[in-house]
Amino acid sequence: MQRYKDPEGKDKMNPFAEQEAWEEHQIGKSKLEFGSKDRNRSSNEYQFVFDDQIDFVKSSVIEGTQFEDDSDQETIDAKDILKRELQDERKTLPIYKFRDELLKAVDEYQVIVIVGETGSGKTTQIPQYLHEAGYTARGKVACTQPRRVAAMSVAARVSQEMGVKLGHEVGYSIRFEDCTSEKTMIKYMTDGMLLREFLGEPDLAGYSVVMVDEAHERTLSTDILFGLVKDIARFRPDLKLLISSATLDAEKFSDYFDSAPIFKIPGRRYPVEVHYTKAPEADYIDAAIVTILQIHVTQPPGDILVFLTGQEEIETVDEILKHKTRGLGTKIPELNICPIYANLPTELQAKIFETTPEGSRKVVLATNIAETSLTIDGIKYVIDPGFCKIKSYNPRTGMESLLINPISKASANQRAGRSGRTGPGKCFRLYTSYNYMHDLEDNTVPEIQRTNLANVVLTLKSLGIHDLVNFDFMDPPPSEALLKALEQLFALSALNSRGELTKTGRRMAEFPLDPMLSKMIVASEKYKCSDEVMSIASMLSIGNSIFYRPKDKQVHADNARLNFHTGNVGDHIALLNVYNSWRETDFSTQWCYENYIQHKGLMNMTFLINTLFFYLRSVRSMKRARDIRDQLEGLMERVEIEVCSNASDLDAIKKAITSGFFHHSARLQKNGSYRTVKNPQTLLPRWVIYHELVLTTKEYMRQVTELKPEWLVEIAPHYYQLKDVDDAGSKKLPKGQGRAAL
Ligand code: CDP
Ligand code: MG
Repeated sequence: MQRYKDPEGKDKMNPFAEQEAWEEHQIGKSKLEFGSKDRNRSSNEYQFVFDDQIDFVKSSVIEGTQFEDDSDQETIDAKDILKRELQDERKTLPIYKFRDELLKAVDEYQVIVIVGETGSGKTTQIPQYLHEAGYTARGKVACTQPRRVAAMSVAARVSQEMGVKLGHEVGYSIRFEDCTSEKTMIKYMTDGMLLREFLGEPDLAGYSVVMVDEAHERTLSTDILFGLVKDIARFRPDLKLLISSATLDAEKFSDYFDSAPIFKIPGRRYPVEVHYTKAPEADYIDAAIVTILQIHVTQPPGDILVFLTGQEEIETVDEILKHKTRGLGTKIPELNICPIYANLPTELQAKIFETTPEGSRKVVLATNIAETSLTIDGIKYVIDPGFCKIKSYNPRTGMESLLINPISKASANQRAGRSGRTGPGKCFRLYTSYNYMHDLEDNTVPEIQRTNLANVVLTLKSLGIHDLVNFDFMDPPPSEALLKALEQLFALSALNSRGELTKTGRRMAEFPLDPMLSKMIVASEKYKCSDEVMSIASMLSIGNSIFYRPKDKQVHADNARLNFHTGNVGDHIALLNVYNSWRETDFSTQWCYENYIQHKGLMNMTFLINTLFFYLRSVRSMKRARDIRDQLEGLMERVEIEVCSNASDLDAIKKAITSGFFHHSARLQKNGSYRTVKNPQTLLPRWVIYHELVLTTKEYMRQVTELKPEWLVEIAPHYYQLKDVDDAGSKKLPKGQGRAAL
């Protein structure tokens, strides 16, 4: 461990000097099967040495804000709290002291901007205060969240605090899942769902208060909501608007809402020590794992929160950690690994809020969701690799992609702050202080400036908002992107040449889907295959978690998967085959098991657990697809499209798909000479449509189906001309965008 330096540059044996006592207790002179051992020492001098130690430099301390150290601040064991105790706990939150003042302000002003540190109680408490003060007697209280998981988990928490059943007085509404009832008074929902509610109820008559929470996240839907709620507030003086944010740039919100007063909730925050790596890390996943273990064996008790960019990364780290900590022996405390990301089954999500048993340590592997949307008590160490996945859009090519990008300074500071909520904390940044100073932007660019706006434009148009250029945006989107969206909607026949909504457009707007998907559904009427297309759309909507491919059983898994592709039907039809086969077995769970998970041969425990986990996940995914499909079927009635099946005519189905996805066409060119010799057909360029483009180190297309190029001209004549798709002719690719050549 000699490579650690203290701030003055002196070598230290232990970077975390103050922790020596604990270290001695934990590591002592025991023999550990972990990392590499220094074999030159005699066993009683045993020293714990890592394979790859990471060098951190303590750089700065983020000062905690002032707070009074009430005696009633101590945390209570969340597991066996009764409602009474939960009520007491509510009183310990920083916001509690401001309850009456806040309610007075709400009474006095129509719009208030509320700013408070994450964890101060904004999301869980304010709607309850409003309910207690009688606002729910006049209408529901809406509280929007940018993330599904946050909406669900906060609603669950609040229903617990109020001692009511989730979905009754307190409920949530997220896309494809409505957990509310006639009784619901407090409704947590994603910002996108509230946006959709405008379609049915343009003045939000059923609501007395709208709280746009996590406003600092500036998601696309939140930004659009700003414009809409600001507008309706003018003609609904009884409607209260709360804009709440975890960051301090509240002036901008206040300015936008005609100088609305800012209500600040002083945070309760302890100082956080920030450590940077001395040199840049080549592999942040690896570095994160090493740092977790380093903290685990050298640092005093306290849970760890690691920020990763997505589900795949979280699963990788989870797996490696399980492997590395296996057989650590009893001298090293247990490490409970808790993943949290959007698609994690709800049952497992609750685990992150459980109190860590004495003598063990919890490590939460989270996406950005833990940055401000969710507060996990007991976190003392934060590991921040400095990346997050963000959507970016190139209006020129019309390509949208999810890319791993460096975070902003604002995000880095939010992340660090998560470690100082219940006591002084430490944040380990897996980048250098130079990187922080020079490479990170101050703030994340609002989503509206880096995304495809087709969906939003369609929604606004169906709300009767035609003049998009003069819409009251807090930060306007690039005009190029707006234009591109109009163009795309025109190409999809959702708008006419005057930019007005067509019948197709109105029908498309009914579906809570991307315009390309809704177009494909609407087009299925023409091709008389709505049954099939709805199934495909549902399968496409659940993402990428259907097939499980265990590392040691790849061949079996691939064979199972190939069965659905028989006849080289393409990925879309394969998804349909999966769904239909499952439907034929009357949605049997056993069937999922047999078809996705191959578990022949010997299994070890980890494999078994992983298999079970993935198995549950794929069953869950299938159930979700079924739910989504049921809802789409309900909407078909609304748009008056008859549900009919045309299973034998694959071309008809593919044409319907092409009607929505003709932007996503590509000419496949295989240059591998081996293949062309063996298989002459592949010499000919083949045309495909793809569902989405994924950019990692390379671009690749996800869900690909072959199509006949002449379909493009038949289906989208305004977009493709014959010469564009003439393989023999010009080498030029079509003028249409969204192409990817492999
Ligand atoms: O919105 P804000 O970040 O200000 O705080 P909050 O989400 O209302 O959280 C207040 C408290 O409720 C925190 O101590 C959380 O740990 C707790 N909480 C919880 O235990 N379970 C949840 N699902 C959400 C919040
Ligand atoms: Mg919150």
